[in-house]
Amino acid sequence: MEAKKIIYSGIQPSGVITLGNYVGAISNWLELQKSEDTQCIYSIVDMHSLTVRQDPAELRKRTLSFFAQYLACGLDPDKNIMYIQSHVSEHAELCWILNCFTYVGEASRMTQFKEKSAKHADNVNMGLMDYPILMAADILLYNTSLVPIGIDQKQHLEMARDIAARFNNIYGDVFTVPEGYIPTTGAKVMSLQDPTSKMSKSDPDENATIMLIDDNDAIRRKIKRAVTDSDSRVYLSDEKPGIKNLLTIYASCNGISLEDAEKACTDMNYGTFKTAVADSVVNVLEPIRNRYLDIVGDKEYIMKVAREGAERAKSIAFRTMRKVYKKVGFVER
Ligand code: TRP
Repeated sequence: MEAKKIIYSGIQPSGVITLGNYVGAISNWLELQKSEDTQCIYSIVDMHSLTVRQDPAELRKRTLSFFAQYLACGLDPDKNIMYIQSHVSEHAELCWILNCFTYVGEASRMTQFKEKSAKHADNVNMGLMDYPILMAADILLYNTSLVPIGIDQKQHLEMARDIAARFNNIYGDVFTVPEGYIPTTGAKVMSLQDPTSKMSKSDPDENATIMLIDDNDAIRRKIKRAVTDSDSRVYLSDEKPGIKNLLTIYASCNGISLEDAEKACTDMNYGTFKTAVADSVVNVLEPIRNRYLDIVGDKEYIMKVAREGAERAKSIAFRTMRKVYKKVGFVER
């Protein structure tokens, strides 16, 4: 049997999961899980989140809530491997090994490290610098061939490839050198308050993002307040980023093309249009929120799924570590 192609993705339990995440990423994952030739692995990367200060109770709660939200979206824990990063100790173990094959110079040149160091000047900890190396460990532990990432993570993926190739050069073919994949087809949802920038999971303006678990009133309110323009006609134009964003949302929530969305809405005034957009979003998110509320109250169920996911992840990660330890010259346990 041909080995399945591994697709790996890590999600930080920070901020909130947004409509943008659903439309841009999660809906693709729901398609991917139907494929027999791929094995998708999704990890909630709590260890990465620790690189900035976290309230312990909040971090724990958010990690479980994220897990519940992915399940509520329909990600199937039998088809995908879904787990919490800190449950699989091999991540930390491989990170250490890879640290010894990464140069301080290359790590300190990372754009995100420089940005985060400036932003958290009072807490420039080693973890911040080590962040991309832990990410490389995540990816390389599972013989990953494909890593879907946002453009902001491209440099980190390049680094993972460099480290993998460097290691392979010394020890022979140990790691699969992963390819990054920056989806261009999926719709990109923009901020409702500033439609020229991406809808962000950590935007401090709560009117700017629709959360996956917003209730119907919140969804309607936020869309009503969405920034548009002083024109009054609904049509696609780069000069009308607010309208274009609402059309994008309408299109994705109804599973139609942007052009068909334009056709369907072009005779509406802005008020009617916003109501139509809000109705479409409610149709998609309401059932997810209802499932979420059921799941999040059942901590035992979440923990059972997380534990089973971690076991499956570990059985792969353990084999990788055994090979790596042998290659570098550690005495067998
Ligand atoms: N750094 C990624 C981000 O913030 C999250 C991440 C951690 C990740 N480990 C990963 C993404 C492994 C893909 C693969 O988006």
